[in-house]
Amino acid sequence: MRTPVGCAALAALLWMAAGCGGNSTAGNAVAAGGTAASAGAPAEMKLAAVSAYDAGPRAAEAPADEMGAQRGSQLFKDKGCSACHTFGKKLTGPDLAGVTHRRTAAWIENQILHPEVMVKTDPISHQLFSTFMLQMPNQGLTPEQARDVIAFFRHQDHEAGEAHGKEAGK
Ligand code: HEC
Repeated sequence: MRTPVGCAALAALLWMAAGCGGNSTAGNAVAAGGTAASAGAPAEMKLAAVSAYDAGPRAAEAPADEMGAQRGSQLFKDKGCSACHTFGKKLTGPDLAGVTHRRTAAWIENQILHPEVMVKTDPISHQLFSTFMLQMPNQGLTPEQARDVIAFFRHQDHEAGEAHGKEAGK
């Protein structure tokens, strides 16, 4: 017979599977499993270089925003980003080609809005800092402006993907 219990068990499984990717705690598993005894204590899944902001779909997966991308392109120059960053090679800052495939939108937004906090608290940002030996300055963007810049990055990565596809004869 099809019981709601089956659904609950499935839901609990999915919950736990999802939990393994993030900072799952024994507490979560117990709550989802229903009984403290059967849930047991899953091995602690502490992944040192995992950023709390970098969980979920990559920034590239959001729909395109051409108007935002245009504003973002201008902001990228006006706000001084282009002094340290470009697409396709490293300047004093990381190469931003493919950044929307590497990171989530939330991570990029935080890096743009609070680079001085990210470098101290975020493992990815900290790692970049150790590589480049330079702290990205806070350029004083608003959250809306940061999202436009991300739309621009997404546009760049999309164009690059199309060009690549053509080369490969697609
Ligand atoms: C003075 C040079 C400098 C300027 C100006 C600058 N950045 Fe950066 N940026 C860096 C450095 C260095 C890093 C890596 C170290 C760190 O996180 O501080 C970085 C990291 C980043 C990253 C992460 C890259 C990756 O591979 O994940 C993004 C995104 C980024 N910057 C965007 C911007 C944007 C947008 C602006 C303009 C608003 C900007 N940066 C202005 C130097 C700069």
